[in-house]
Amino acid sequence: MNTGSRGRLCIVGIGPGDPDLMTLKARTVIESSDTIVGYTKYIDLIGDIIKGKKVVSTGMTHEIQRCILAIEDALKGNTVSLVCSGDPGIYAMAGLVFEIMKEGYSDALSGMDISIVPGVTALTASAALLGAPLMHDFATISLSDRLTPWALIEKRLYAASEADFVIALYNPRSRGRRDHLRRAVEIVLEFRSPSTPAGVVRAASRENEEVIITRIDSIPYDLVDMESTVIIGNSETFVWDRFVITPRGYNKKYSRFDGNK
Ligand SMILES: C[S@@+](CC[C@H](N)C(=O)[O-])C[C@H]1O[C@@H](n2cnc3c(N)ncnc32)[C@H](O)[C@@H]1O
Repeated sequence: MNTGSRGRLCIVGIGPGDPDLMTLKARTVIESSDTIVGYTKYIDLIGDIIKGKKVVSTGMTHEIQRCILAIEDALKGNTVSLVCSGDPGIYAMAGLVFEIMKEGYSDALSGMDISIVPGVTALTASAALLGAPLMHDFATISLSDRLTPWALIEKRLYAASEADFVIALYNPRSRGRRDHLRRAVEIVLEFRSPSTPAGVVRAASRENEEVIITRIDSIPYDLVDMESTVIIGNSETFVWDRFVITPRGYNKKYSRFDGNK
C-alpha cells in the first residue's frame, strides 16, 4: 500500500529454512511489508507468512534485478522486504543494494528508510548440527568463482589453511563446479592431517537436511551440493561421539579439578 510517506526498504535474513530459526524481528518486518522481493526458492520457504502480499520473485543470477525492483518499489512509498536466506549481509544482497544505490540512486537515499535485519546464517546453523566446530578462529570461504577469480579463492584457501583456521566452505559444489571442493581439500591437505575432522551439512533445518561427519580425506563429494556447507576442523578439532568439537583452550589453561586459577 502506498501511503505517500517515506518508503522503507528492509533487507531481511530469513534464516536457513526452518521458520523457528527466523528471528522474531524478521517475521515482524516481513508481516508488516507491502511487497516481498526474493529468489523464488526463498519466497517458497516463507510462503505461510506472505499470503495476500505483493510478491516479486526471480530466479538465481537475477540478483541485480531483484535489488532494483525492491529499491524502485520502496521509492514509491511502499514498505518492501527484500528477503535473503540466512543473513542478508553474508554472501547475500545487503552489500549489493548499497552498491546499486550508491551508483544510481544516491539522490533518493534521504527519502528512504533502509534497514538490515540479521538472520541465522548457514554457517552457525550447520555448526550447531555438527556440535561445536567454530569455538576457535575460523575463516569462511566461498568456492563460487562466478564473481571471484579462482586464483584469489585458492590464495585465501592457502592462507586460511596455513594459519590453522577452522575453514567453512560456502557454495562448495554445483553442477557446473564439480571439482572446486576437491581442489580446496587438496590445498588444506598440504597443511593438515588427512584425519582432520570435516562436516558436511546439507539443507540445514530444511526437510531434506543431512549431516555427515567424516575426515577431510573422505569427504563424500557426490553428496555435496549448492545447499551444503562444509566445515573443516583446525589441527586441534576432534570428534567425540556424534559431535565435532574445536577446543577453545579452557582445558589447557584451567584444571578441571582445581577450579579457575
Ligand atoms: C549465496 S550463499 C547465501 C548465504 C546466506 N546468506 C547465509 O547467510 O547463510 C548460498 C550458500 O549458503 C550455504 N547455505 C545456504 N543455506 C544453507 C542450508 N540451509 N544448509 C547448508 N548450507 C546452506 C550453501 O553453501 C549455499 O551454497
